[in-house]
Order: sequence, then C-alpha cells, then structure tokens
Amino acid sequence: MAETILVAVAWPYASGPRHIGHVAGFGVPSDTFARYHRLRGNRVLMVSGTDEHGTPILVAADQEGVAPSAIADRYSAVIAEDLRRLGLSYDIFTRTTTGNHRAVVQDVFRTLHAKGYLLRQTTLGAFSTRSGRTLPDRYIEGTCPHCGAPDARGDQCDSCTRQLDPTELVDPRSRIDGEPPVFRETEHFLLDLPAFAGALREWIDRQPHWRPNVRAFSLNLLDDLRPRAMTRDLDWGVPIPLPEFEDRDDKRIYVWFDAVIGYLSASVEWAAARGTPDAWRDFWQNPKARHFYFMGKDNIVFHSVIWPSVLLGYGAGGTVGGGQGHPALELPYDIVSSEYLTMEGRKFSNSRGVVIYVRDVLDRYAPDALRYVLTAAGPENQDADFTWAEFLRRNNDELVATWGNLVNRTLSLAHRHFGVVPHPGMLQPADRAVLEGVAAGFESVGQLLEAARFKAALAQAMALAAQVNQYLGEQEPWRLVASDRERAATVLHTALRCVDSLKVVLAPFLPFSSQQLHRLLGYAGDLAGEPIFQEHGDPDGRTHQVLTGDYQSAEGRWEPSALPAGRPLPPPAPLFRKLDPSIVAEELARMAGPGG
Ligand code: MF3
Ligand code: ZN
Repeated sequence: MAETILVAVAWPYASGPRHIGHVAGFGVPSDTFARYHRLRGNRVLMVSGTDEHGTPILVAADQEGVAPSAIADRYSAVIAEDLRRLGLSYDIFTRTTTGNHRAVVQDVFRTLHAKGYLLRQTTLGAFSTRSGRTLPDRYIEGTCPHCGAPDARGDQCDSCTRQLDPTELVDPRSRIDGEPPVFRETEHFLLDLPAFAGALREWIDRQPHWRPNVRAFSLNLLDDLRPRAMTRDLDWGVPIPLPEFEDRDDKRIYVWFDAVIGYLSASVEWAAARGTPDAWRDFWQNPKARHFYFMGKDNIVFHSVIWPSVLLGYGAGGTVGGGQGHPALELPYDIVSSEYLTMEGRKFSNSRGVVIYVRDVLDRYAPDALRYVLTAAGPENQDADFTWAEFLRRNNDELVATWGNLVNRTLSLAHRHFGVVPHPGMLQPADRAVLEGVAAGFESVGQLLEAARFKAALAQAMALAAQVNQYLGEQEPWRLVASDRERAATVLHTALRCVDSLKVVLAPFLPFSSQQLHRLLGYAGDLAGEPIFQEHGDPDGRTHQVLTGDYQSAEGRWEPSALPAGRPLPPPAPLFRKLDPSIVAEELARMAGPGG
C-alpha cells in the first residue's frame, strides 16, 4: 500500500547565498529521499522555504545598511534559484514572511498560550552594547561554567553538551562584535518544556530507528529541561498575537518558534494553492503518515525537543488544526541530521574566503556532478572535507569512468549497429545473471535509501554499474557485431535493459542525467518531473514566488526495465563531462584570489 511521507527540510536563513555545506548536509539527501519515495509510488510532500526572521537577517541588513526585508527578498530569490538548479524537488519551497505563515504561527502561539504552555516571565535578556538589540543565545559565547571550555555558546556547550543560559557564561562576549553584552530585565513568554518531559521521553523511547547520536543527544537534553523563551526584544519577526503585545514594536516571536512551524504552514499553503485546502491534513493529522526531518547537527534540539513540544502542546489545535474531532498533529518519525562539511581542510568562513557557493559550482559544473560528489563524500555520519582534487577524482574516475562509460558504450554500439533496441536471442546464464543482479538492486538500494543511508545506497548502485561494465568486458559485443550478430543483439539487449534499470536506481541521486538517458532510451515522457517557479497569492494580498513541481504525473517507477525490443534509438550523446585536472588549481586560485 502506498505510504504517506512528509519530507521536511531545514529552512536556510535568507541572509546570504548558501554554500555547498548547506546542500550537502540536508538539501541533496532530502531530495534523494523524496525522489526515491515518489518512484516507489508513495505519497510525498516535501516542504521547506527560506527562514527570513531572526538575527542572521538583521546582522546582514546592518552590514549592508538596508532593511531586513530587502535582505530577505534578495536572498530568498537567490537561494530558491540555487535549489532549483540543483534539482531539489520541493512540493513547496516558500518563505516565512508570508501572511499565511504569520497566521499559522500566531494560531499556534495563541493555542499554546491558552493551554498554559507559554509562561509569562521577567527574565534577564542579553543586549548588544552597540546596537541595543537582543543578542540571541547562539550569538553569545564565553567560558562554560561546567567544564571550562572557552568557546561555549549561550544556549549550549558543545564540549560537555549541557544546556546553558547566557547569564551563566564566564566572560560572555558577542559573536557579532566581540563586545561583552549587557543584561537587562525584560518580559518574555517561555515554552514550558518541563511539562513535556515525560511525553517526550516516552516518544523518543519508541524511536529505535533514529541515528544513535541523535537519540543519545536528545535523551540527554531531557535530563536538563527548562522553560525557554519563545519571544525576543526585536522588531523583525512575527508579532505576538496577544492584546497587550499586538501593537508593540519591540517584541516579536522567536525565530526558531516561527521557523519550525514553517513545516506546517508550508503544507497549508501547498494545499490551498492546489485548490484542496484540506489536503495538508492527510500528512499532518494522519497517524499512518511518517515525517522525516533533514538538517545539520546544530539543529537537532529544535527538531527533537522544541518542535515536538510545540506539536504536543498544540494537539488537535486551534483554528488551523480544527480542534476536537481532528486527530493531533503528527510528531517526527525520523530526524536525519548530518555532520559538517569543511572545505579544503578548513571550516567555512565567509570573512576568510573559505567558502564555495552553490551557484558558483553550478555555473561551471553539472548539477549531477555536484550531487554525486556531495553524496559519495558528504558529511552523512561524520564530518567530511570537500576538496577540488576529490571532486575531480570522483567525477572522472567514478561517475564518468563507471556509469558514463557503461551508458556510452552500450548506447553507441546499439545505435550504430542496430539503430533500435535489438531483439534478443536465447539468454545465456551470464545474461540472466547480470539482469538478476541489477534487478536485485531495486531491493538492496531501496532498503538503504529507506534507512537514509545515502552514501551506502549510492555505492551499491555504482557497484551494479561496475558489474554491468564487467559483463560487457567479458562478452565483448564490439567484436560480436562482426562475428555473431545474433549474440551481439542479445548482449546489447541485456546491457540496454541493465542501463534502463540503473537509470531508475540512480535517478534519486542523479536526476538530470537519468532524465537525459530516459530520452536516449527512446522514452517520450518525464522520469520524475523537475522543480519550477510559481507565483502564489497570499492571504495578506501580496504574491510571492515558490518552488514547486508536478512530480505525480511522471512515469518513472522503482522497478526493473521492461524496455521493448525494436524501439528506435535516438543518436546517443554523452551524459557526463570528463574534467581537466587543471580545474583543481583554477578553483584553488579562485578561492585565494581577490574577493574569492
Ligand atoms: N535557519 C536555520 C539554520 O540555518 C534552520 C531552520 S530549520 C527550521 O540553522 F526548522 F526552522 F525550519
Ligand atoms: Zn561545558
């Protein structure tokens, strides 16, 4: 039976163009996952957007001397374009500055407040000495009072993993300008996390499928839960929907409270835009649906503790959820978090020029080449280092030499000597073995993809391509065409079917080349469908651009090839480009160069 799968992808801050670390950590893996499930015939909703509130946007706006909304508008468009070019197949990639999002966030806030889960308290807030603005916990660093680590953040110490309050830090300083913050009394609404501790623990206990580090980290957080402020002293963000606060310019809802609600509000927007306003309920109020969240490891606490608490507190909900009579909103099923990607051995840093922007790579190389390398050598389970030498090697020695070569040899021989998919004679054991080996890949690669083990899944798919290459090497169809044309036809028929199957197995990873190959094998339709831009109307009267796509009517199926013999083959063309070794020095020079 078809499954219902929500693919919820972390929302990138619209504070600048995104670098390849962002797409390596969660963009490409989540897309691979969504594409696989669609090929399986499952019902998939893949949602995200740009995260446009909060300090990162304010900092960028200050640096450029423009309004925060100008930064958000600019980079939301830049980021969405990068993601489109990379083929990330969102059902909706929207923004957090829409009226729809504001309404959903305010409904959730109001509902939690009415249920007593948002505690009004006077707390000590940290403010920047220079700008007078709130300094978010994560923008304050200092020495950990527990373990003495010199670089603890205001929310948490990475060395001893304890949760912190910025006031506890020894020698606190702002990460923005290095100045010590001033602490002032201020009133806030705190999410009563301890109220959910029991329910959270019970729920996490039922999640044996989580990656062990995510599970251990999250359980550990439960030992030390405290109420956490969900409002900030800022003028940029979603207004607090309570009578006394609505018209105030100095307090807004905390960006992390608003951003995670984006998963829900984007689903609501998606449903409304396609004229089926209740369709989001099949994903959110359906106990059979499974929700997979993709993110970098610094986002875990927000997805495994804070967002689930908000969901538990909201229950069947207020206005949006529909209240009693509707099931409660679903909690996450899996939290797929990645580690960090470094760049030529160094941590990404805009200021030091240690950065590779997605758009720069896509200007010079094929999206599938980048997707391939980021999956094969990405930070799935441990920190990974991106180097141009490795990019070159993986592109040339793996993608081109194994898969590209198999496709080229098979298509050129078949086209040149037969012009059609040749009719096979009697299959020999070697033919059957290779066909069965590739057919088994649907099961083995599929299982790895279901378990979000992308690296292993891709390695398995590439191993199958290598097996087919070996089969060709043994059968030598290029000789057979002269000596035994019928046998040549059987071998090429077999190889074409293997290539046709591997096209599907590799499609979640390499959507562009698989689509190209689909055409080269004489299919007329779309294997998967690709993301496109669409204008959405908003309840507040404005319009905004979203990334979306029609993936449902595509013809790809996660099953072995049934390529019909006799089908005419169009002239072949190479799928991949072998790169010249000189690109390594060129790219390194670009990074070191002026403005690089
Ligand atoms: N913008 C955040 C970051 O880049 C991620 C937000 S994810 C969401 O770290 F859950 F809030 F959507
Ligand atoms: Zn510590």
